[in-house]
Amino acid sequence: MLQTQIAFRPITPEDLPQAWQLSKDLAWPHRLEDWEQMLALGNGFVATTTDGSVIGTLLWWAWGPQAASLGMIIVSPAWQGHGIGKHLMALARQALPGYRLHLNATSAGVPLYEKSGFHSTGVVMQHQGNVSTVPLIPLPEGCRMRPMGAADLTAICDMDKAALKLDRSALLTRLMEDGRGILVDSEKGILGFSFCRKFGWGQATGPIIALDQAFALPMLAYWAGTCAGQFLRVDIPQDETVAGLLDQWGLLRVGSVVSMSTEVVETGDAATQPPICFALCSQALC
Ligand SMILES: CC(C)(COP(=O)(O)OP(=O)(O)OC[C@H]1O[C@@H](n2cnc3c(N)ncnc32)[C@H](O)[C@@H]1OP(=O)(O)O)[C@@H](O)C(=O)NCCC(=O)NCCS
Repeated sequence: MLQTQIAFRPITPEDLPQAWQLSKDLAWPHRLEDWEQMLALGNGFVATTTDGSVIGTLLWWAWGPQAASLGMIIVSPAWQGHGIGKHLMALARQALPGYRLHLNATSAGVPLYEKSGFHSTGVVMQHQGNVSTVPLIPLPEGCRMRPMGAADLTAICDMDKAALKLDRSALLTRLMEDGRGILVDSEKGILGFSFCRKFGWGQATGPIIALDQAFALPMLAYWAGTCAGQFLRVDIPQDETVAGLLDQWGLLRVGSVVSMSTEVVETGDAATQPPICFALCSQALC
């Protein structure tokens, strides 16, 4: 039963220090800058007590007019089980009428999301650690790896959309501004792209989107190599080849989450094999 002394309202940048404290209390790795960057790309709600303390958060990102992702759904342990998470979810659904919704759920969140109409669509494995030595993985003949430039933005947004059925142009534009994007191409055009950025306890690589593993793995090895000796995080859809390589490089599997969606997404037929997501941008941003 939702208690009357709890209020709900849209989240503002001023709420972020308290929101950050909630995620730190769960030992989640996000920095205040990570919260700021996520809110700059999206919206959300907070639950507050009468003294103004933030006791619950939910962020959402509209990726085009039809699909959105939800994340950073947290209710302070002292207030869990009072319907706050359920009410935050209801507010998000009201804010996104008719949208297909995606999220990556911790085991604590799965019961709430199932009751909110989400179905499991896969598993995401969280790998992280201090990177050891990483051998380069050669590209197929006729391909090259190069830094991404502003002229590549439209093509990588199209490839991302074809892979995920989400229009994440705003996110990719933001990542490109950081200047740590690479792609693989040949005379046939772009075959894959990826980013690396500061996140949490060190660096994170993702998204990594490519037409084939042969283009994705050299990019993954490149980023791991540039982070040698540093903490790196990679969230990957379940894939034993990629997981095995990450383990060898010191990036061990530390957990997993369940990908959930309110609708089944068509991924194309064999004749039009879409690009594949080999690493997420983050669990929240998909
Ligand atoms: C997940 C979380 C946000 C749920 O918030 P909450 O305010 O405690 O959830 P609610 O009280 O609104 O419960 C919502 C529904 O889920 C059910 N539920 C919640 N936790 C459950 C559990 N562990 N097992 C079974 N059902 C559960 C409740 O029974 C309720 O359904 P009902 O109203 O039909 O009985 C909260 O537990 C949390 O912050 N956990 C830690 C952070 C986290 O893992 N967040 C999820 C990130 S994806």
